[in-house]
Amino acid sequence: MNVLQVSAEIFPLVKTGGLADVTGALPAALNAAGCDTRVLLPGFEPIMADLHSTTVLAELTTPWSEPFVLRVGHLASLNLLAYVIDLPLLYQRPGTPYEDDQHQPFADNYRRFALLGWVASRLAGGLDANWQPQVVHSHDWHAALTSAYMAFSPAQRVHVASIYTVHNLAYDGLFAPRHFFELGLQSSALSVEGMEFHGQMSFMKAGLFFSDYITTVSPRYALEIQTHEQGYGMDGLLRLRAKELVGIMNGVDEVVWNPTRDPALVHPFDAHKPAGKSRCKAELQQELGLAVQSDAPLFGIVSRLTEQKGLHLVLSVLDEMLARGGQLVLLGAGDASLEAAFRERAAANPQAISVHIGYDENFAHKIFAGTDVTLVPSRFEPCGLTQMYGLKYGSLPLVHHVGGLADTVVDCSLEDLANETANGFVFYHFDSQSMVRAVRRAFALYARKAEWRAVCTRAMCQSLGWDTAAAQYVALYRRLCL
Ligand code: ADP
Ligand code: GLC
Repeated sequence: MNVLQVSAEIFPLVKTGGLADVTGALPAALNAAGCDTRVLLPGFEPIMADLHSTTVLAELTTPWSEPFVLRVGHLASLNLLAYVIDLPLLYQRPGTPYEDDQHQPFADNYRRFALLGWVASRLAGGLDANWQPQVVHSHDWHAALTSAYMAFSPAQRVHVASIYTVHNLAYDGLFAPRHFFELGLQSSALSVEGMEFHGQMSFMKAGLFFSDYITTVSPRYALEIQTHEQGYGMDGLLRLRAKELVGIMNGVDEVVWNPTRDPALVHPFDAHKPAGKSRCKAELQQELGLAVQSDAPLFGIVSRLTEQKGLHLVLSVLDEMLARGGQLVLLGAGDASLEAAFRERAAANPQAISVHIGYDENFAHKIFAGTDVTLVPSRFEPCGLTQMYGLKYGSLPLVHHVGGLADTVVDCSLEDLANETANGFVFYHFDSQSMVRAVRRAFALYARKAEWRAVCTRAMCQSLGWDTAAAQYVALYRRLCL
């Protein structure tokens, strides 16, 4: 089965969060499950630099009359065939894929990402005489217009199924409707039965409305987004489409996240040879200037610093963590007030708190390897990958019971310890009292060395690879192509 994946990010080339981890791992997992997968990407600088053996597939003109080239080539770092939109004026700029250096969204984002969908629909329509996708699978609002363009394309020779995966409903790609006419879609696309959303145009809604099928990244989040509280105004539409909506849990890319052969770690380890983990912890403490104490529970956070991630709760439980002899390392960037608050706490207590503002893939690996607990107290979390990286690296996750966190972490309650199903710490109310109780459970278990080791072993042995998700996606693709 030929599958075209469409996204704005792909690990290890362009990454702002978990989306890239998913789009970087899914193609290989689908191929292992028997698919022939290619990707379509915007021509960001790292993508162009990684693209080899390229040929020009087509010289095209955007719906707003800008000429560009569509290349097809081989992404060296992913060993993957890719179509890449080569239009430097749109994609080669300082900043993130979405924002300039001043953290302002690019004013022409609606064009930059509409084009991704437009090209995807041309490929669905047979643009490449040598390769016809049977499924076009787009990810998040950046690629969401794919399904709208496909829905308005003339009838195809072959049926091509459109699937849209929501990684985070909170980022919806909302733009002023005056830009609609530039996008080359039929006027009916901008109606309530389409991508119109409270007088704006919503790329997210286009994906949700026009796709043959919608998936999201955990079973629980698939239910949560159908509620008023977590639906961001899309819950009505999602309830209407409930029969074409499923949650498929993300996996962990075990080539990238594997403590037995992680190039970021000096001391490899696994569940059966855990000694390397203690060395990783001691080295991390030393490197960060923390007191080098093997018996001080070390808590870690690797996160975007946004309201979603619930990190104000960490600030409110920090005194208790320290009073009980714990330590904290945080790696993250984002909200200026959160950055300042964590920096301030580290300055006041450098032996116990270490804060690194920035983005550092290598350091992230060292944190999962060297810590005892990974904190993910998110207000909402579609899937969450860091709690799974914590499990793989024996850093037990402490999470809020929501979305994919609830689907992956089982609290160390007495009954789940006895059942041998516990793998972390879970709090059920999104407040400091509830979180602090989970922190106390973590300390209580940490004091019982044998039990702690048993839970770590279980966590590290859990099967979290991409094969399960890939099989579910392939089953879905097959059903849609019948
Ligand atoms: P989200 O996509 O909402 O940010 P996920 O848990 O799905 O959350 O994925 C986050 C990904 O980004 C993980 O791979 C995590 O390790 C990585 N990450 C987040 N912040 C940083 C950072 N400051 N430095 C390095 N990696 C980070
Ligand atoms: C989003 C979500 C996160 C999820 C990731 C990958 O960024 O916030 O929960 O793990 O996408 O699907």
